Amino acid sequence: MKKAQNRKSVRLPNHILPIRYDLSLKPDLESFTFEGREVIQIKINKLTKDITLHSKDIKIHTAQITHNKKSEFAKISYQEKIETIKLSFKNNIPKGEADLAIVFEGVINDKLRGFYKSTYNIDGKTKHIATTQFEATDARRAFPCFDEPAQKAIFDVSLIIPGEKTAISNTLPISIKEHEGGYKVVKFSPTPIMSTYLLAFIVGDFEYIEGWTKGKKVKVRVFTTKGKTHQAKFALDVAIKSLEFYNEYFDIPYPLDTLDLIAIPDFESAAMENWGAVTFRETALLVDEEHTSLSNKQWVAIVIAHEIAHQWFGNLVTMHWWTDLWLNEGFASYMENLCVDKMFPSWHIWDLYLADRYAVALRLDSLANSHPIEVEVHHPSEISEIFDMVSYAKGSAVIRMVAEYIGYEKFRDGLRYYLKKHSYNNTNTVDLWNAFEKVSGKPINKMMETWTKKTGYPILSVSSKNNIFEVKQERFFLSRISSTKNKEKTVWDIPLKYKLEKDSKSILFKKKNIKIKAKTLGKINEGEGSFVRTSYDKEALGTLGKQILSGKMPVKDRLGLARDIFAIAEAGYIKTEEALKFSLYYKNEEEYIVWSELASGINRLYRLINNENFVDKYKTYALSLFSPLAEKMGFNNKNKEGHSAPFLRNLAISNAGAYGDKNIIKKSQEIFKNRKRNPIRADMRSTIYGIIASNGSKKEWEMFVKMYSNESFHEEKERLGYALTRLKDKKLLEKTLNFALSKNVRNQDTPFMIAQVWQNPVGRDIAWKFVKKNWKEILKNYGEGGFISRLLSPLEGHKITKDLVDIKKFFNKNIAPGAERTLEQVYERINSNIAWLKADKNSIKNWLDKNY
Ligand code: BES
Ligand code: ZN
Repeated sequence: MKKAQNRKSVRLPNHILPIRYDLSLKPDLESFTFEGREVIQIKINKLTKDITLHSKDIKIHTAQITHNKKSEFAKISYQEKIETIKLSFKNNIPKGEADLAIVFEGVINDKLRGFYKSTYNIDGKTKHIATTQFEATDARRAFPCFDEPAQKAIFDVSLIIPGEKTAISNTLPISIKEHEGGYKVVKFSPTPIMSTYLLAFIVGDFEYIEGWTKGKKVKVRVFTTKGKTHQAKFALDVAIKSLEFYNEYFDIPYPLDTLDLIAIPDFESAAMENWGAVTFRETALLVDEEHTSLSNKQWVAIVIAHEIAHQWFGNLVTMHWWTDLWLNEGFASYMENLCVDKMFPSWHIWDLYLADRYAVALRLDSLANSHPIEVEVHHPSEISEIFDMVSYAKGSAVIRMVAEYIGYEKFRDGLRYYLKKHSYNNTNTVDLWNAFEKVSGKPINKMMETWTKKTGYPILSVSSKNNIFEVKQERFFLSRISSTKNKEKTVWDIPLKYKLEKDSKSILFKKKNIKIKAKTLGKINEGEGSFVRTSYDKEALGTLGKQILSGKMPVKDRLGLARDIFAIAEAGYIKTEEALKFSLYYKNEEEYIVWSELASGINRLYRLINNENFVDKYKTYALSLFSPLAEKMGFNNKNKEGHSAPFLRNLAISNAGAYGDKNIIKKSQEIFKNRKRNPIRADMRSTIYGIIASNGSKKEWEMFVKMYSNESFHEEKERLGYALTRLKDKKLLEKTLNFALSKNVRNQDTPFMIAQVWQNPVGRDIAWKFVKKNWKEILKNYGEGGFISRLLSPLEGHKITKDLVDIKKFFNKNIAPGAERTLEQVYERINSNIAWLKADKNSIKNWLDKNY
């Protein structure tokens, strides 16, 4: 594969350390440039003649060093490839402290990183915001700096801005003074000692609402562009409650006196935890009581809880280097649930976690081309590559496993110990394990080693003979090809719960095999606490199936079985028809999270066989499950429904609609037609729009485009954009792709829209063709950061050799920066699809013929 950059180490030498930055920036919101000056107080530990620091796309005018009252200007050389500048001096600079003064200028770019611009319309007028996104390695685009997480320093930020604008940074202003030409100088109070990637400054026209945590301790504000503060109330409430929760939970008060949450119209990810000034995309912060769906409201709560967890875990205590990024992201992805569960117990968020992040992690990490949680990274493109579901989802899953193992109180105590011990400092993974080990007295370091240092996770296979059950562990591969090639023999330390006839047992399973003597053995990994899959011999599987049918199995275990049965069919442990057969045990199922796993298994298989001549029979099979469910749920909410009924309703209707249930389609069309008189509930809109579009034609396409263009609420825009990717006419889908790349769609949304067309079975080939044809433009607009890998991941749905050859050929010639690993994963998955289809096509067909 063509490599984007050479991957040699790009770390700064460590004999020069920053202590304090006095940084002043003057952005120009018309020319989209900025002028900057800084004085960095540095500590030099070794006599030197040159200083290297990070800088990217910045023009340096002068750089001058002052020590012991002597000053000297530097000769400046740019090392663009490794994103640094070297300042060379004639005379030696001695050990000790010095001041480095740099005058520079840069651009306010449109790449959603560094110091960038965001654009929006208000009353027909175009407006701009200048804002920052520095994680992981883009502070260097805004000012020359020592841009590594362990190079913590204090920042004194001043922003020189037009008199009528608002400036926000990590702390509150200490002074606002008039400046020439209608400008003002906003000087912010010094930040705590912190990493460069957490700094932020935002300039624009904003409105805000505010509140206080208990005892008026911390001022919390939510900023939006003009006219949107009524959508900020929910966020303010959640932010205050989250802060109060963490204050208590970590037993360390939030160290700043203010926390701002800012909605930015153009934003690459969902949100960023800048200390005291958290930035969000609008859909991750704004809630409109009438137009926000329950699932988006939950998302908003999750994102806020996640970013606020980082204020401690990440900001106060930071990983030494990006190798341990997972400490930040895995941990925040765990805490977000703990916090939201406290705030909204009726949501049963941990159940949703199991059906969402946890399942994603199990899928991704079953590839030979996954990576260990702790992974060596150097170059910025490698760093951006690991903001992936191994760091987030597997990271949170292994933390959850530790919590279950040592118990929730010890877990909390361990965290308190860890955070207090390492405040304002940097850590490695072992520091966290040491803390848990200290408070629990259990061998956490040893137990966790394989989980964070090795790729993958085990599958536990159960077989039985004469009341002896044998449980065997081996690494699980989703691809039968990868598993044949594999030679490695990792044995994991697995905290394992299993069920005997009456009681449950917990052990630490550290060998290749164990034998359990028992009359009956129920589901193992009870409650899905450990990061493993399970498989059973036919007899045991039959017994479990009957327990499901009779409603005797707990929900998490039903979910685990539904999830794993399709995965082990894909992996070749069983024939796919066994999984289909097993799915029928779920016909009385009532829980959303279990259906969610079933639907995703059924859907994956549908994408695999959608070009085969038995696809109609497959649809009949799918409808045999989803139609009765849709009928039972109906289109309207009912009194006294469970918390997740609206989700189950959507799942049932959208699946029934997708597999062709005529009644459901007709009813959806009626609801859509009457929407002016009888507005569609926000919860149902995505489902209804999807059904309308997938049964629609040119007229519907044009209508959705018009609705999209007129809509200003971003969440609704997303739903309408999604509808445009659901059509079944190739010409129209092609128009959608062009629309996605046009000015009508924000860059932040384009990769998602293209990916959704790609995931539409009708759109698979045209999306790939389109991406190839427009690759240059795509790279130009989205080439940096995580967009490319997001965009390319739907390649995994391809399933014929010709495509694989074509894709490989293309990426031998073209770069895909930050998506190198994604491509390896895609190749592995396509190979797996080809092998799976070849092996099981006939048996699936036979089973369908026999039964439908
Ligand atoms: N630190 C990240 C933001 C980020 C992501 C920076 C990728 C650089 C690259 C932030 O804390 C985060 O994880 N945001 C998530 C949302 C969260 C709820 C999982 C996101 O933006 O998807
Ligand atoms: Zn995060």
